[in-house]
Amino acid sequence: MIPSTVADRVSPHLFEARVVRNDALCREHFRMVLGGGDLAGAVAGQFVHLGPSRAGADDGLAMLRRAFSIAGLRSTSDSCEFDVVYRVVGRATAWMASLQNGDGVSVIGPLGNAFPIRTAKRHAWLVGGGVGLPPMLWLADALAAAGRNAVGLIGARSSDLLAITIDGDASLSPDATSASRAAKEFSACGVPVVISTDDGSLGYHGHAAGALSAYYGRAGVAPDDLVVYSCGPEPLMKAVASFCMARSIECHVCMERSMACGMGTCQSCVVGVRDELATDGWRYELCCTHGPVFDATRVIWSGDPAGGVQQ
Ligand SMILES: Cc1cc2nc3c(=O)[nH]c(=O)nc-3n(C[C@H](O)[C@H](O)[C@H](O)COP(=O)(O)OP(=O)(O)OC[C@H]3O[C@@H](n4cnc5c(N)ncnc54)[C@H](O)[C@@H]3O)c2cc1C
Ligand code: FES
Repeated sequence: MIPSTVADRVSPHLFEARVVRNDALCREHFRMVLGGGDLAGAVAGQFVHLGPSRAGADDGLAMLRRAFSIAGLRSTSDSCEFDVVYRVVGRATAWMASLQNGDGVSVIGPLGNAFPIRTAKRHAWLVGGGVGLPPMLWLADALAAAGRNAVGLIGARSSDLLAITIDGDASLSPDATSASRAAKEFSACGVPVVISTDDGSLGYHGHAAGALSAYYGRAGVAPDDLVVYSCGPEPLMKAVASFCMARSIECHVCMERSMACGMGTCQSCVVGVRDELATDGWRYELCCTHGPVFDATRVIWSGDPAGGVQQ
């Protein structure tokens, strides 16, 4: 069952996990497999808050926890194993990249809400750009298991920044009019992909929202039979949201904010949302507890006027 309300969700808990693998995927991204603890009941879209282990070599390394989407989850004989795909951008992610197999990581999770899976719609497309890829990996599994016709539209700035394994023999459509089984991580669950790169070094030449438009133009899918999910840089999600809203296609976006607590206490992670009942036609919601997944029609993007009020 997909949790849809706060009351439905599995309660987050604090546990120590161990690094099972920590491999470089491309020039900037790593995939860490963490074992131990219990994320049973977690669903695609939810995230974990990671920090240095309380016991062990990282004692004395003081930093706030950082949020990472759960990119995959598997049961093991004694607990579970889950994946985090991360891009090294600063202190915490550099610490993560330095971890060795067996090292401890402190985890709080699962946190946040989930991507809704619409059983009444046959088609589900996942538009992920750059570091927006991780939640799409697990969502592809969930959609395939739910019997949806899922397609991934995955973009990166350049082919050497794509955090997935491309089969070198696979042919990729340069005009994004067909999806292929080129990406091993997606084809494992039977989901074909359209690859795009901003510099044209692989697949469609342009960003993933451009690939979405080109693919939609040829797919012949009715707008009310399609749901689009997106995660990535805000300009990409904004472009995907506008494309979908202009065609009355249901769209859900996975937002990112700096998150100090991850559970609704510090108020550091606000997202402006439209609310016709609010005095000015909009209000703030918390990315960590109301999101990170939001109905795209509600989100007020940076620079958007909302209810006549500029944020
Ligand atoms: C719900 C959620 C899920 C996320 N999932 C992933 C994931 O799967 N993989 C991944 O690589 N990253 C993910 N992130 C972003 C990740 O939390 C940040 O990259 C991480 O906190 C950076 O920590 P740092 O100490 O390495 O960098 P810092 O030194 O803290 O920051 C380096 C740069 O990144 C920017 N930055 C830091 N955190 C964020 C943020 N949350 N949103 C936007 N910009 C930020 C800073 O402004 C700065 O410019 C997610 C964030 C959220 C909120
Ligand atoms: S991160 Fe503290 S309220 Fe959202």
